[in-house]
Amino acid sequence: MDVDAFERAAWEGRAAAYDRGFARLTAHTVEAVLNSAAAGPRTRLLDIGCGPGPVTAAALTLGAQVTAADADLDMVELVARRHPHAQVRVAALPGLPFPDESFDAVAGNFVIEHTGDPVAAAAELHRVLRPGGTIVLTCWTYPGNRAVAVFSEALRAAGAEHPAGVPAETPFSAHAEPKPFARLLTEAGFEGAAADILRWTHRVDPDAWWADVLAGTTRTGAAITGQDAATIDRIKAEYDRAAAGYVTAGDEVALPACALLAHAVR
Ligand SMILES: C[S@@+](CC[C@H](N)C(=O)[O-])C[C@H]1O[C@@H](n2cnc3c(N)ncnc32)[C@H](O)[C@@H]1O
Repeated sequence: MDVDAFERAAWEGRAAAYDRGFARLTAHTVEAVLNSAAAGPRTRLLDIGCGPGPVTAAALTLGAQVTAADADLDMVELVARRHPHAQVRVAALPGLPFPDESFDAVAGNFVIEHTGDPVAAAAELHRVLRPGGTIVLTCWTYPGNRAVAVFSEALRAAGAEHPAGVPAETPFSAHAEPKPFARLLTEAGFEGAAADILRWTHRVDPDAWWADVLAGTTRTGAAITGQDAATIDRIKAEYDRAAAGYVTAGDEVALPACALLAHAVR
């Protein structure tokens, strides 16, 4: 399957729903990303796969000169409206419209796993980073990331088949562990690559989270919405059963979440 073509089509029309829901999960890693990138006043920072712009927003408050780029037009328009001080571009890895060595730092919060050729994508980020500049990328890691893993587990528990048109794995899947993630950056030409695990708790209403993930994510959401209505009901029942194990005071669930943060220097 052409993962890039799937991703381009799957993100179309999701920007607003992603912004309302799933972006509250990705927001947890922004501070660590910008710390690792040593972003500060006048840092020329590329926020690649910017989505609705959580990294851009925080980097601008630090005084960085931010370029926000995303393959999806709606995401880019949303960032342009919200952050008039950022440069914004529609751009898809692994082919970016920026000259060599344009940036002091590159931050990609949960974008690398959406690329069809992650080594080529990382090599392109190496090209646009100046010598001595820092790259920081995050990705999800499973099964520890319960906030998302509960959905694929519910699909399997309901006896549903993964829909043929939705990739179950992507070329990045093999890199979603600390050492392989760091090795990817080394293969792309970076120095001193290392990856750390970030952990937090995602507190959310379970029905709202079901709706957020179905509407705002590509592979996870599409694997469920691509089923017939009766199967979706069975998956939801399995999700409810799993979510009940994380109920806290009130109606919220406290879902353990975790991600990898890889960093390296050009
Ligand atoms: C999971 S979202 C992350 C958004 C944002 N960085 C955040 O932290 O919430 C992934 C984003 O990457 C974008 N994307 C997917 N493939 C891409 C590619 N090849 N090049 C650039 N952006 C891409 C999608 O359009 C989407 O906005």
